[in-house]
Amino acid sequence: MLAIIGGTGMTQLANLEITHRQVIRTPYGEPSGALTFGRIKDHNVVFLARHGYGHTIPPHEINYRANIWALASQHVSRIVAVASVGGIRSDLGPGKLILPNQLIDYTYGRKFTFFEGGEKPVTHIDFTEPYCPKLRKRVLKAAKLAKIELLDGGVYAATQGPRLETAAEINRLERDGGDMVGMTGMPEAALAREQGISYASIAVVANHAAGRGDSKQHVDINSVGPILDDAMMRVRTILEYVVEADGD
Ligand code: HPA
Repeated sequence: MLAIIGGTGMTQLANLEITHRQVIRTPYGEPSGALTFGRIKDHNVVFLARHGYGHTIPPHEINYRANIWALASQHVSRIVAVASVGGIRSDLGPGKLILPNQLIDYTYGRKFTFFEGGEKPVTHIDFTEPYCPKLRKRVLKAAKLAKIELLDGGVYAATQGPRLETAAEINRLERDGGDMVGMTGMPEAALAREQGISYASIAVVANHAAGRGDSKQHVDINSVGPILDDAMMRVRTILEYVVEADGD
């Protein structure tokens, strides 16, 4: 089954016909909320709001392990995540949609692996391609069918938050190769890989990153609502095409 993890601007899926909700207990504590099961265009989908349904959980306090474990327990084989980002690359202005193909992890102090604790064998997942190439292709194809622009490829820089970055930090991320910056891409992607779940992420540019474009002096994160609303409508349409191609 396909899962959708919604981020800021997507705490519910308007096009999901909800069948039931289920609270999942996990060995890692509580997920961000109950899983919402339903159908989009007659295909089974499960939805989870990463920050909670009332958007109350900040990026560094999300229980990423519980979220991924809960989805794995329901036999989810693919996750399309949606995450808002700041645009670093000059063509990534507010409202743009982009499907990253690489990431750099700058987060710290988060529970970032299932492979810890005495009795488990030491395990090193391959993470050369952090996003599933096959699922990325499917999402790109869906966007094409929907006639919605989705930029193909870019490096997602995952920062700790909850504060936004300094202009110098954004310059450093750019020198490192970062094209966009967000706070929730990791450890979510790695944990999905550890559970053997294909994972891709649609990044929605909410604002120019600090020191760039109209964020030269400061980032006005409170005025991004209308931009995100419009972008999330396009993301929902893309997701409709993704699930239609899903076959479940
Ligand atoms: N920085 C980090 N995370 C973000 C931003 C940003 O500018 N915008 C949306 N999420």
